[in-house]
Amino acid sequence: MSVLKGFTVWFTGLSGSGKSTISAELDRQLRARGVPNIEIMDGDEVREHLSKGLTFSKEDRDINIKRIAFVCHLLTRNGVPNIAAAISPYRETRDYARNMIKNFVEVHVAAPLEVCEERDVKGLYQKARTGEIESFTGVSDPYEAPLNPEVVCHTHEESVEESAEKIIDYLVREGYLKAAN
Ligand code: ADX
Repeated sequence: MSVLKGFTVWFTGLSGSGKSTISAELDRQLRARGVPNIEIMDGDEVREHLSKGLTFSKEDRDINIKRIAFVCHLLTRNGVPNIAAAISPYRETRDYARNMIKNFVEVHVAAPLEVCEERDVKGLYQKARTGEIESFTGVSDPYEAPLNPEVVCHTHEESVEESAEKIIDYLVREGYLKAAN
């Protein structure tokens, strides 16, 4: 499989919806098919480095997302496939990323809140419910679902492999990737 032009796969979804898990699987499947260089900008990791010190206020979330968008833009314009996996709760800020990056594939990781909360991988929903954590997305802070995402992954109904395959199919169909002959 070869890369015809750089692109950003931009995941958006609640904490625990499966953004990081699908990112890792997408990365794995692309590498297995001969795409060697893919960069992942994962929310938790970005907040350890590029966005260290930022809070979860709207203002700081927007700064975080705009930083990620800028790096994705640099990679995409140089033909490097890249993946962003942050909650990115605000529609307007995702549209900012879309306009900056251009080759932008928005993927809504659409597990229902109840499912994410039931999973509670990091134990944060419980803390959000008791008020130990404030402004938690989906509980005490907004999440604006995309209106027209390029791909939707229903992670409570499909496997992680299926979700990743669906995204690769989209990338081939739209001329970002070319299947090997
Ligand atoms: S974003 O809103 O700025 O896009 P980002 O994806 O970077 O969020 O970080 C979200 C992660 O931070 C969550 O998966 C969770 O582990 C952690 N987190 C800690 N506090 C919060 C909070 N108040 N709201 C959402 N996520 C939080």
